[in-house]
Amino acid sequence: MSMQWWNTVTDRIFLKEVYKDVGKHFEEAKVLDIGVENYNSSCKMLIDNPKVKYWQLDPRGFSVNSDGAMHSTIQDAPNKYPESKNSFDLIFDIGVLCWNGTKFSQQDQAEYVKGICELLKDGGIWILHGDSLETNPEYIVDFEKTVYPHFDLFDFAGYNKIETITCPNYGTVWEVRFLRKK
Ligand SMILES: C[S@@+](CC[C@H](N)C(=O)[O-])C[C@H]1O[C@@H](n2cnc3c(N)ncnc32)[C@H](O)[C@@H]1O
Repeated sequence: MSMQWWNTVTDRIFLKEVYKDVGKHFEEAKVLDIGVENYNSSCKMLIDNPKVKYWQLDPRGFSVNSDGAMHSTIQDAPNKYPESKNSFDLIFDIGVLCWNGTKFSQQDQAEYVKGICELLKDGGIWILHGDSLETNPEYIVDFEKTVYPHFDLFDFAGYNKIETITCPNYGTVWEVRFLRKK
């Protein structure tokens, strides 16, 4: 997506800074952006650190601007790409698990979180962004049951553990969680 999108949509304005801060936070790292298609084509540029290797994962497609790509769902990735297990310092999950357009059942959520855990190094970071629009209990992300047993919330790079972003025009509310693998 064009930089116009990152400069005008409320959650993008916030997320743009998060990508930049990840680039500044690490001296050297391997990071993964999941659920990318063509949405995240500017992110390697935002990170702007040649020692931070920027990988992408999506079952459907990617942008060309990356240092590596996995053609898979997150649930299947550890089996499909075993060499990627325990290899990432940080995973960006922007509008995938917690976006109400992608429906993950309780069982799928557990497999999804397992995939994230297997790809991250010990102590690896998961930046999880999404909306809170889902109303069906089967698809609402159950953080207490599925996420927090495996991850601690923590203050990353000056951000609060959970940042809430509200669109001033439409009232849309997004949450960004900063999680560290236990
Ligand atoms: C709303 S879009 C992504 C948005 C994008 N990351 C952004 O910054 O806005 C959701 C993406 O999740 C991908 N996706 C759906 N199921 C997935 C899964 N199980 N694992 C990884 N990606 C998935 C879709 O192919 C799609 O590209």
